[in-house]
Amino acid sequence: MGIELRGLAGKKVLVTGGAKGQGFNHAKAFAEAGCDVAILDITTPITDIYDLANPDMMSAAVKAIEDRGQRGIALPCDIRNEDEVKAAVGKALDAFDGVINVVVNNAGVAALDFIHQMRSTTLHAVIDTCVKGTMFVTKYAVDNMIGRREGKIINISSAVTGSGHAMLSHYVAAKHAVNGLTTSWATELSEFNINVNAICPATIRPGEGQGSGMVLGLSKEMGMAPEDAFETFSAGGNMAGEKWRCEMQNITDAVLFLASSNADMITGTILPVDCGQMSR
Ligand SMILES: NC(=O)c1ccc[n+]([C@@H]2O[C@H](COP(=O)([O-])OP(=O)(O)OC[C@H]3O[C@@H](n4cnc5c(N)ncnc54)[C@H](O)[C@@H]3O)[C@@H](O)[C@H]2O)c1
Repeated sequence: MGIELRGLAGKKVLVTGGAKGQGFNHAKAFAEAGCDVAILDITTPITDIYDLANPDMMSAAVKAIEDRGQRGIALPCDIRNEDEVKAAVGKALDAFDGVINVVVNNAGVAALDFIHQMRSTTLHAVIDTCVKGTMFVTKYAVDNMIGRREGKIINISSAVTGSGHAMLSHYVAAKHAVNGLTTSWATELSEFNINVNAICPATIRPGEGQGSGMVLGLSKEMGMAPEDAFETFSAGGNMAGEKWRCEMQNITDAVLFLASSNADMITGTILPVDCGQMSR
């Protein structure tokens, strides 16, 4: 008997940071699996943070979902702003007849700062996006799940939570918080049949445009070519051997698995998709 991911077709999915990078890849995969997808993403720059999504990427993401025969909803929103999140999630619920089955809290930013020279711009951008933004989105998206006694929340953390990382303390702290939110919400929401899990990706191969932008952005701060930064981070953190290089699709595969009925009995898990990094 073949193994397939069950229970995805017909689901209503909200992906934060869905207009570019890993979130865009997840959104396309959900559409291919027969899901309608709401893309929630910022479309204006954040001070001292590398290039994020823009209105053209948002339109292209919605078109990519529609090209796969599914409904795509554009929700321009800065998840650092609770009022914007409340309005955007409300629009998704209106469009999806009051139902959001799956939330992927993927939006996140990183920066490189020594603690004694930390810019207040990047400190607030990282903590507010990764921690408070994840909390705001979940706060407004989970009510319908509680009411329906069904739902899946997937938080994107990072393999950096497996060890210390110089110049990334704001980001590492923020992703530890994401792990804490995951186990706490899994406990709190279990009686409502809601699964809450996190994925810890390794360094992801960077790409221009709608590719994965985090390492691309950090490579510019480091004065390195993006592929060299990817190699430096991967070779330093991952298991030895050239096999261990992580692509966006590796994370998408785990996201769709956790969203599917195949993972119905998995909750409170911090799942490394990390090329072995967290066990070293
Ligand atoms: N790239 C990596 O190596 C790597 C490794 C581990 C974990 N991660 C995590 O994976 C996730 C996706 O990263 P990526 O590589 O695709 O990066 P990316 O920069 O390509 O994508 C991040 C997305 O989040 C959106 N976003 C950022 N701040 C936002 C805000 N305040 N409000 C709304 N949307 C916002 C961006 O516009 C963008 O669409 C992030 O949570 C990141 O921390 C990345």
